[in-house]
Amino acid sequence: MKDSHSHPSSSAAAATTAAEPIAQNMIKLISNLCFSVFVFSVLIFTVIAITYQPPDPWLQSAPALTTLFTQSENATFHIDTSIIKTGEDISPSPQDPPLPFPSQSAAAPAVTEAVIEKAEERIANLTPPLASPADSDDAVGVVRGPCADAAAAGTLNCSDPRVLIAVERFNLRTFKSIAFFDYQTPVNGSTADECDVAWRFRNKREKSWRKYRDFRRFKLQLTDDCKYKVVHAGRWHSGSNARRNPALRPRNEGARSGANGKGKALPKISNRDDEINDTIPTLGSAINFRNGKYLYYSRGGDYCKGMNHYMWSFLCGLGEAMFLNRTFVMDLSVCLAATYNPSHKDEEGKDFRYYFDFEHLKEVASIVEEGEFVRDWKKWDKTHLKRNKVPVRKVVTHKVTPMQLKKDKSTIIWRQFDAPEPENYWYRVCEGEAAKYIQRPWHALWKSKRLMNIVTEISGRMDWDFDAVHVVRGEKAQNKELWPHLDYDTSPDVLVEKLKGMIQPQRNLYIATNEPFYNYFDKLRPNYKVHLLDDYKELWGTTSEWYNETTLLNNGKPVEFDGYMRAAVDTEVFYRGKTHVETFYNLTKDCKDGVNTC
Ligand SMILES: *[C@@H]1O[C@H](CO)[C@@H](O)[C@H](O)[C@H]1NC(C)=O
Ligand SMILES: *[C@@H]1O[C@H](CO)[C@@H](O)[C@H](O)[C@H]1NC(C)=O
Ligand SMILES: *[C@@H]1O[C@H](CO)[C@@H](O)[C@H](O)[C@H]1NC(C)=O
Ligand SMILES: *[C@@H]1O[C@H](CO)[C@@H](O)[C@H](O)[C@H]1NC(C)=O
Ligand SMILES: *[C@@H]1O[C@H](CO)[C@@H](O)[C@H](O)[C@H]1NC(C)=O
Ligand SMILES: *[C@@H]1O[C@H](CO)[C@@H](O)[C@H](O)[C@H]1NC(C)=O
Ligand SMILES: *[C@@H]1O[C@H](CO)[C@@H](O)[C@H](O)[C@H]1NC(C)=O
Repeated sequence: MKDSHSHPSSSAAAATTAAEPIAQNMIKLISNLCFSVFVFSVLIFTVIAITYQPPDPWLQSAPALTTLFTQSENATFHIDTSIIKTGEDISPSPQDPPLPFPSQSAAAPAVTEAVIEKAEERIANLTPPLASPADSDDAVGVVRGPCADAAAAGTLNCSDPRVLIAVERFNLRTFKSIAFFDYQTPVNGSTADECDVAWRFRNKREKSWRKYRDFRRFKLQLTDDCKYKVVHAGRWHSGSNARRNPALRPRNEGARSGANGKGKALPKISNRDDEINDTIPTLGSAINFRNGKYLYYSRGGDYCKGMNHYMWSFLCGLGEAMFLNRTFVMDLSVCLAATYNPSHKDEEGKDFRYYFDFEHLKEVASIVEEGEFVRDWKKWDKTHLKRNKVPVRKVVTHKVTPMQLKKDKSTIIWRQFDAPEPENYWYRVCEGEAAKYIQRPWHALWKSKRLMNIVTEISGRMDWDFDAVHVVRGEKAQNKELWPHLDYDTSPDVLVEKLKGMIQPQRNLYIATNEPFYNYFDKLRPNYKVHLLDDYKELWGTTSEWYNETTLLNNGKPVEFDGYMRAAVDTEVFYRGKTHVETFYNLTKDCKDGVNTC
């Protein structure tokens, strides 16, 4: 095993030595070239970013959404092409299938006051009491053993369970909108009276079960009644000593297990919430290919239409696959419509995983990636005799209903969408009678966790304590015919006046907007601590985790943070605010969809 690894590399090394001067010059040349291209593209991007107007974020009121999503006949996507609500934003309605909660949610209950009290009882039973309850009432001046010692020595033992309890209580009191899970044992901070603590959490408003990590630095003091008290809490992600280094731990443990041979079973490290596993699943063995049951949709007229249309169609296909109890063959390559692209052109070759949570999709639905599928299919047909080839049922029109296909035993049901528009839209399959049988599985479609990590980071930096306003401008503000007052009602001076009545002065105010001019909201700054998406540019900049991870998905090429991603993040941050001020009906009396539509 070892030989086979070292052999190719040593021969490669020999080859490099022989061609060294040429190779080195080439590398220099190439890297210079790459750098110029990089600088140039950054320049272009900057210019584009300045002139680019993203479309409206798709903040829709609930009734409008319901109409849109339940309207299976003649669904129009022209009203608001920028709606990109996903499963996590839509409350499951009674007729929706129950959310399939995977085991993770049951595994760890949230840390509540009751849980903390139980932990306190356990400690009290384990350790000799430092002070009896009776003592603590008239505790002033009473000198007690270990408690006083610790206080006198000025040392804080971070692994003392009472430290954790103090922090848990503090968090519960401070962050009322957050549910806490999986606290780690606190570790030393930077000075003797500090501890760093890590935990997982979820915003209570979030409808997905995804959890995120935070780690903060706390300054603690011992109180007179011998309890720990948090006297200062650090900001979001301040407890760097408690940040787990995923690269280090397995290595250490690996070394240890190597030393004592087989050794005892190592505790399993769950990186489930920290690392995203959205690798493309393989079909396993091609041997079983013929025994599978697949539903394959060829690319239809939906390609390069808006994202709203994309989701509506994709979920129709996935819904049919679920109805037929088949594996859905999906194309991970997405075409992003021009409205969301700074280039103002449709852009092909976007990865589904930039926008949606593929890991979650894999967990709740049976899917296979198209490339893998076609490869295995071809392989099978090549290696088998004619009469044993994969049975395929081709369906050339959406007028063949899912109900008619229910009995079909073919390995592959292949829906083709070659008719002229609009007969070639996937979602047509779910119209009419079919709408009664097919449920769009909205619960399967969540936003990419990579985007949600940005949302969490922004909200966390404001300590989850902010109000939010959605200011729609852009094209609508310019269209005086359909929205006669919008421009005026969202002008800086009017905004100042209107917000005065709705949001307390000096609050953190997050402004979700498609207004491209950064300084547009400067007049609000004396009254509020204004936050805009672009204040957090570094979260998707070249030094960010997002950048690293999406680059990896894109075979090493950087991924652009496009208008769709911006709208998705803007929207989710908006939802996490405490007070929401919407443009339509809060700021202006104009109707969302133009004159006389409300
Ligand atoms: C679909 O919309 C068109 C106009 O856009 C309308 O004429 C037609 O009646 C609608 N069809 C149904 C079934 O609602
Ligand atoms: C800190 O507290 C833990 C748990 O109570 C205990 O095991 C450990 O010995 C203590 N360390 C010191 C230095 O007192
Ligand atoms: C934490 O700090 C205490 C005192 O400040 C010290 O005794 C202890 O060794 C430190 N623990 C670690 C793991 O560094
Ligand atoms: C990622 O998920 C796939 C299933 O989709 C699983 O087979 C694979 O082992 C996972 N990889 C890791 C590193 O957890
Ligand atoms: C769906 O398919 C799986 C395997 O293909 C089978 O085990 C299961 O019984 C089927 N369920 C229904 C409701 O047909
Ligand atoms: C991104 O990747 C580079 C190189 O692999 C690494 O040095 C850097 O720390 C990474 N940044 C983040 C934020 O993960
Ligand atoms: C915005 O308008 C809605 C509906 O009229 C209302 O329920 C909500 O309270 C308003 N928000 C604020 C902050 O006034």
